[in-house]
Amino acid sequence: MVDSRESWNEAQLCEIIAEHRGLEGPLLPILHAVQDAFGYVPQPAVPIIARELNLSRAEVHGVVTFYHDFRDRPAGRHILKICRAESCQAMGCEALVKRAESRLGVECGRTTANDQVTFEAVYCLGLCAMSPSAMIDGEPVARLNASKLDALLSEMGA
Ligand code: FES
Repeated sequence: MVDSRESWNEAQLCEIIAEHRGLEGPLLPILHAVQDAFGYVPQPAVPIIARELNLSRAEVHGVVTFYHDFRDRPAGRHILKICRAESCQAMGCEALVKRAESRLGVECGRTTANDQVTFEAVYCLGLCAMSPSAMIDGEPVARLNASKLDALLSEMGA
């Protein structure tokens, strides 16, 4: 069975490149569009983007790995992001990060072995007044605490 989360195709990639290549500094917009379209930046896309933009593979790979926003593999069924920026740090987000890591059995930035949850950091969700905050599958969660986190992880099947 084909995993739909791994579906990407070269024709769509080439369309994305064509749409953005005229921009000044087209690499980042292309990578964002690729991730929006496929959910991640597939490894085989890197040499194609490099060739089309006259860059080296190392340059494109370097940008993909430098920015936290880009994934180099498909995300899990659910995406949990905990804010680790200043206000949320002051309100104890690091303890929640540790709790999530322990419960999920993976470090922040990874996907669980069963592909159920991808756990990532985010740096300010604009909810500083209600820190610590998080985002689950695109939905903001304010005033996160240990019991709320446990309940959310259970809902995600973790
Ligand atoms: S610092 Fe976490 S929402 Fe702003």
